[in-house]
Amino acid sequence: MGLLIPILLGFLGFIPWLGHVFEFRRDTLKFLERMKQNHGDVFTVQLGGFYFTFLQDPFSFGAFVKEKREKLDFNKFAKQLVQRVFSYKGITDDHHILQTASNRHLMGDGLVLMTQAMMSNLQNLMLHNIGSVTNQSTWKEDGLFMYSYNILFRAGYLSLFGNVPPESEGNEEEAKKKDRTESDALFYEFRKYDQLFPDLAYGVLPPKKKKEAERLMGLFWDALAIQKLKNKDDISRWVWDIQQAKAEYGMEESMISRYMFVLLWASQGNTGASSFWLLLFLMKHPEAMAAVKGEVDKVLKETGQEVQPGGPLINLTRDMLMKTPVLDSAVEETLRLTAAPLLTRAVLQDMTLKMADGREYFIRKGDRMAMFPYGAVHIDPEIHPDPHSFKYNRFLNPDGSKKTDFYKGGKKVKYYTMPWGAGVSMCPGRFFATNELKQFVFLMLAYFEFELKNPDEKIPEIDVRRWGFGSMQPVRDVQFQYRLRY
Ligand code: HEM
Repeated sequence: MGLLIPILLGFLGFIPWLGHVFEFRRDTLKFLERMKQNHGDVFTVQLGGFYFTFLQDPFSFGAFVKEKREKLDFNKFAKQLVQRVFSYKGITDDHHILQTASNRHLMGDGLVLMTQAMMSNLQNLMLHNIGSVTNQSTWKEDGLFMYSYNILFRAGYLSLFGNVPPESEGNEEEAKKKDRTESDALFYEFRKYDQLFPDLAYGVLPPKKKKEAERLMGLFWDALAIQKLKNKDDISRWVWDIQQAKAEYGMEESMISRYMFVLLWASQGNTGASSFWLLLFLMKHPEAMAAVKGEVDKVLKETGQEVQPGGPLINLTRDMLMKTPVLDSAVEETLRLTAAPLLTRAVLQDMTLKMADGREYFIRKGDRMAMFPYGAVHIDPEIHPDPHSFKYNRFLNPDGSKKTDFYKGGKKVKYYTMPWGAGVSMCPGRFFATNELKQFVFLMLAYFEFELKNPDEKIPEIDVRRWGFGSMQPVRDVQFQYRLRY
């Protein structure tokens, strides 16, 4: 029997109920690093009325991730957050419905359809004016963050929530045009909500901003109303099954529309920022860019395709996307450096946390448990040497296969990155998201020349207010220019 150590380090801040919430919110990474230095890899802090026990020992992550739901529960916590931030009142089976639909349509064979939908929407957004005289060889300038986020958001939104049917606009071209304009308008509203999100999640919005958040929510509930979605073509099976299952439970349509916004948020809130970092890292590392471009050209050649003036658009399939180990590694490296979720669970029963080295900690019912893998593994120099540098081949073995062996103190680390979270709440969209990133970069490389306006410009800092919410955003945008290759 190991030693039972009750931990309540609980270094209370100056306002007892809030505890350390201000410092935590200001810079989560910095705060948790300081706590780890002072108290070790397990510590308890009071945040906004709850005691949170943080587990920051990578070897013991399994104890958190695999603990029974009766003890460590994700749903309760998520339900409260979703109600506060999205005004959605859940039902008991929400998570089950989500998991069933996701297993069916966002993974395995279901992903083939999603990849096709994403491809055709990306082509509509990125390549619609190919061949028009005005577009040829003219450099266009834009902020890389806004450009990437805009395209990923719109293509993802259209692929999941459906397209304008040609019949309603008279012909296909007009319908595609409407998809472009409507999704563009929606993107700018989405960004406004995105910017309010951290304060909304912490419940610290001033009244004026709260009103704006409510306006935006109303706008999205309307845009994603079930009656409107029913008039769309090619709505994804994922969205369709979820709304159908909720209707079968007797949920009101207005509440289902609110959930549609939750899904839009979950599916589009991270991918845009990740695509920005990926392109930026490639542009700042020419050897990485050359390696990825070489792979893109190879895959195209192997499938007998070529990008040429007046030729057909390339058809990039799910199979092709499975033959890109270099791009896979670049994506994984990007997420290691820029995806920083905070995993949280409610403690439903008194329990003992058993650490890999035999230590045991008593965790109280009613408290919370949390993990912040970014600090614990993503930037640990023992696991990932030179952890703040982008190394496109970090996740490649010398023979070109995927590298999964990472060590700390001579011991293999199972959870060496966790951009998607883990266990019951692990991102169900991770395969689709990875595909989206790869499709976007693939098309950029195949069709466009692009470069930074100022190649010597430093990679911008990440916005520390967003730690814990998934993909990080830069504090400022970076100007770049792009044009069609021919
Ligand atoms: C780079 C892109 C993405 C990143 C880094 C990411 C990351 C995450 C993380 C860390 C979580 C778990 C949060 C937690 O434990 O509290 C999560 C949940 C979720 N993600 Fe993603 N995600 C991405 C893209 C997507 C996409 C494209 C979709 C859908 C098509 C999606 C759908 C969801 C959903 C529905 C959940 C909630 C899961 C649940 O309640 O169990 N995500 N995501």
